[in-house]
Amino acid sequence: MAIKGPVGLGRGRRRRMTPALKRWRLSLELTQAEFGKWLGVSRATVNRWEGGLQAIPKSVELLESLTRGRIIPAAKDQHILPLTVSGRRVREGGETMNKTLAIIKPDAVQSGKTGKIVAHLEQSGFTLRALRLTRLDSERAAEFYKVHREQPFYAALVSFMTSGASIPIVLEADGAVRKLREVIGATDPAEAAPGTVRKLYAESKERNAIHASDSDENAEREITFFFSRRELLDSGG
Ligand code: CMP
Repeated sequence: MAIKGPVGLGRGRRRRMTPALKRWRLSLELTQAEFGKWLGVSRATVNRWEGGLQAIPKSVELLESLTRGRIIPAAKDQHILPLTVSGRRVREGGETMNKTLAIIKPDAVQSGKTGKIVAHLEQSGFTLRALRLTRLDSERAAEFYKVHREQPFYAALVSFMTSGASIPIVLEADGAVRKLREVIGATDPAEAAPGTVRKLYAESKERNAIHASDSDENAEREITFFFSRRELLDSGG
């Protein structure tokens, strides 16, 4: 059987690409059918790509290179795929678009403010897409806050976040990341605007009731940190 090289690629690159595609799929723990569904192709096509029997479209190679390193570690056991392919077009966003992550922190959960905070978020125009009561262990908290690891407050932050239950919540609204930052207010409740969640419910800068993602990219990472794709309800949910 004649084996064609992929569009615009030499055979050497095709040979390197096909095992990479399979490794990528396996690292996401997806079946060929699930992976194909996401990419908008049949299971048989994925099978042919992985066997090197059919050219891999450039868009798939681009998608793989975009997600390598950045998405795979976060998505490893979470099944969240933050990029979608539409034909040959790769579009940023996908299932985390217009979504952000909030965490009701241990101080607020322990002092019984969960209901009021959730009501405040809903009244501010957010729709809940996923929610869980959990307790982070040190390893998970250290990983979640790793961007702060050089900060003097890092150890105390990890210790606080593991001190009791917390509630990660995926929230949806237009411009969700920015909107939630406005609704929760400044990090330090002393500086937060009147009517914001932190002004109303936070104790201090360290015990400040709620976390919110600070960019779309971090929202994507943080949502995948806590929730699988199957746990995110869509707009019909
Ligand atoms: P958050 O923005 O959710 O994530 C980082 C957290 O670090 C922040 O909330 C605070 O609760 C905590 N923190 C503790 N000390 C400080 C500090 N001096 N400056 C900023 N954040 C701090």
